[in-house]
Amino acid sequence: MFQKENLKGASIDIDFCGLHLQSPFILTSGPLCYGAEGLIRGHRAGCGAVVTKTIRLEAAVNPARHMGAVNSDSLINCEKWSDYDRLRWYEEEIPRAAAAGAVVIGSVGHTLKEAQAIVRDVELAGAKMIELVSYTEETLLPMLDYTKAHVDIPVICKLSGNWPDTVATAQRCLEHGADGLCAIDSIGPTLKIDIRHARPALMSGDGYGWMTGAAMRPIAMRINAEIARNNPGLRNLYASGGCMKPEDAVEYLMAGAMGVGVCTAAILHGVEYVEKLCMGLSELLAELGYGSVQEAYRAALPNFPQKETVCALDFRFSPFREDGGKRCVACRKCERVCCYGARKLEFPEMRVDMDKCRSCGLCVDVCPTGALTADNAPQTERDLQREQQSAEFYEKIK
Ligand SMILES: Cc1cc2nc3c(=O)[nH]c(=O)nc-3n(C[C@H](O)[C@H](O)[C@H](O)COP(=O)(O)O)c2cc1C
Repeated sequence: MFQKENLKGASIDIDFCGLHLQSPFILTSGPLCYGAEGLIRGHRAGCGAVVTKTIRLEAAVNPARHMGAVNSDSLINCEKWSDYDRLRWYEEEIPRAAAAGAVVIGSVGHTLKEAQAIVRDVELAGAKMIELVSYTEETLLPMLDYTKAHVDIPVICKLSGNWPDTVATAQRCLEHGADGLCAIDSIGPTLKIDIRHARPALMSGDGYGWMTGAAMRPIAMRINAEIARNNPGLRNLYASGGCMKPEDAVEYLMAGAMGVGVCTAAILHGVEYVEKLCMGLSELLAELGYGSVQEAYRAALPNFPQKETVCALDFRFSPFREDGGKRCVACRKCERVCCYGARKLEFPEMRVDMDKCRSCGLCVDVCPTGALTADNAPQTERDLQREQQSAEFYEKIK
């Protein structure tokens, strides 16, 4: 069970939509949120808030099979909304989870008619926020207008990365009075083939499903950062998409999300894994020199480049640790991933042919121990010329 007193580093509590949350981790709507039991487990594991499975007018009936694995850290699913009747949510599940201390966010989808029928009862049942989810912007905005006019609790819009311009939709939601945003929902449609049976792995109507987990993180990261950069005053943005470890959460905070959703990681490792995320986040923030989530929040935004930079990388290879032990484990990943054959490790020497090296940086990124690092080398006259030429060419062909 998560206890704030056990944190060994930075403080991780946050303020979100006017509420104080024990951590930035939000258990996003999904199979772990099927009812009070799952929501309470999420709360006890350290989630700052927990989102119900999406509540609609009719309980969902799901096909078999509706979830599958894509690699070890991503999923594909065609699970629908909640398979509990909405009355059960109002009468049993939300009140029980709220009574256990969970900050419950009631997820309501997907049409105006459903928002009209459901949001007020979700508020009365004890939810502290409403999260609206829909298939298109055209249906989301009327749902938002209605909900803002009929509930007193904060209203969050969950955005989809599949929409033509999610960042523009975010803007419109804010203009229509959304108190917070969640970016983004699962990516799709996507497909997995079961090669033993030569057919789609999922039994949805078209065999397609929605991708979640690590594979979608860079898409979600870009969208969150862009929303944050466009809205310097926006504090109530929470990210959803592939937060699998504390490092991912720090990335999201630095990119401008105040909260970080977790669904696939909690499915794959068990919801109790959130406690590990909390402990790890606290330690990692401290290691990076931050005393709180707040200090890391938006930290990367001032450092976005204004233009493309052409320069060489100044590599540093430190094969030994300060205590004399080996830092380089001679895994040769740096050598292997060099598409240009520029790098050769002859431990403890590392040779780089700078005529072949294109300064792509991948060798540094795959080094598991930090023995190989790099900074941008100062730009030479020739770098500046090439940078200029490249910019002119790009202007011409745009
Ligand atoms: C099996 C499954 C069911 C989901 N059901 C819902 C849902 O009912 N409503 C919703 O808004 N999002 C739903 N999601 C999306 C998640 O809330 C989350 O936005 C998405 O999985 C990305 O986060 P992740 O990479 O941490 O999983 C579901 C995700 C999965 C994996």
